Amino acid sequence: MVVNIETVSGKIDYNRLVENFGSSLLTHDHLERLGRLSRLPLHRFLRRGIFFSHRDLDALLNVMEQAPRSPDASSPPPFYLYTGRGPSSESMHMGHLIPFLFTKWLQDAFDVPLVIQMTDDEKFIFKGTYSHETGDNLQNFQRLTVENAKDIIACGFDFQKTFLFSDMDYVGTMYPNIVRIWKAATANTVNAMFGFDGSSNVGKLAFPAIQAAPAFATSFPVVLNQEGQSTVDRMACLIPCAIDQDPYFRLTRDVAHKLVTPPSLRPPGALPHPLGGKPALIHSKFFPPLQGATGKMSSSDTNSAIFLTDSPDEISRKIKQHAFSGGQDTKAKQQELGADLEVDVSYQWLRFFLEDDEELERIGRDYGSGSGEFWSTHKVKERLIQVCQELVAEHQARRATITDEEVRRWMQQRNIVG
Ligand code: TRP
Repeated sequence: MVVNIETVSGKIDYNRLVENFGSSLLTHDHLERLGRLSRLPLHRFLRRGIFFSHRDLDALLNVMEQAPRSPDASSPPPFYLYTGRGPSSESMHMGHLIPFLFTKWLQDAFDVPLVIQMTDDEKFIFKGTYSHETGDNLQNFQRLTVENAKDIIACGFDFQKTFLFSDMDYVGTMYPNIVRIWKAATANTVNAMFGFDGSSNVGKLAFPAIQAAPAFATSFPVVLNQEGQSTVDRMACLIPCAIDQDPYFRLTRDVAHKLVTPPSLRPPGALPHPLGGKPALIHSKFFPPLQGATGKMSSSDTNSAIFLTDSPDEISRKIKQHAFSGGQDTKAKQQELGADLEVDVSYQWLRFFLEDDEELERIGRDYGSGSGEFWSTHKVKERLIQVCQELVAEHQARRATITDEEVRRWMQQRNIVG
């Protein structure tokens, strides 16, 4: 298995990953506390262990428990959410929705502000091209930022509480913190953490600080400013992300103590940052490609993914032709042994996207034993096709209403706390 910021491949052993990375598994106790604090029932991604790992969630839950929100929401939010996307492809696929669907739930469940970083700079630095005739394609990534922003907005975030930004536009405001992070990390540390070396372009070494900076509320002096308070440096941060992003935030957490206001400069009586400046994290597993439950879905192999632009027929064709089946080769064997649900992509995708727990359980029981309504791969695929067609059609309808002008409004610096 390989899991780092540039590659995810092989059969993923999530327990080993947590061990290697040094994060912690989410426990029943965490879910219970989240459930008690939340205004909504627990999201299916939590109920089903799709978000499965964390850093400092206990400390964040303490902050939430100690700062109950008044019903009129006049008290400041106890934390803000930060997530992001590298705009590398024209069209996003269903796997890309996972962190955003979950972030939307977090925003609604805890009524907190959210910042979303679009790393057009990152994608140019890592994947950009230069040709003598046509120059480079930096502008292409800025264009993709706007296109992908439409898909993100279509997930249903609360405009009053959400700030979407492109690094190319916004980086100046974060620059003091970026400079502090650069100063706090050596090239040796960054090389070791991200697998860079002397032949890597300088932008790669510089970029981790750009992804780290939004984890500090002081990077948003306008956006997260609280009426009547001169600083935002005590607001905690929670980052929902896929676990391959963890190295960025390990670095962030390592340097965090250098970005908080030192005790001697705090106004009298002001409390320190509750997590010592560190962001808390909640990590998801990967959404498996159609061909098999290993690695993560990729935009470059169009048959491995359902894109948010796919037509109902394309969705049906891809699932019928390409979804890896854990079922048996013959009807008799299927009815005798049942399917291997672990490796069956259709079943695994239903775990991500079918809301109804009872129906999912029934499908698992039938298919796993080769009996009942969902006894065969065909039946399960039919159900999955319905679920995906519905989700994609609804997404397309919402996205179609979002103009470039609308994206500009979401990207305007404005206060989202008040
Ligand atoms: N590096 C991420 C990507 O390639 C984008 C990103 C930026 C991000 N900031 C983030 C993802 C914060 C999760 C959380 O897609």
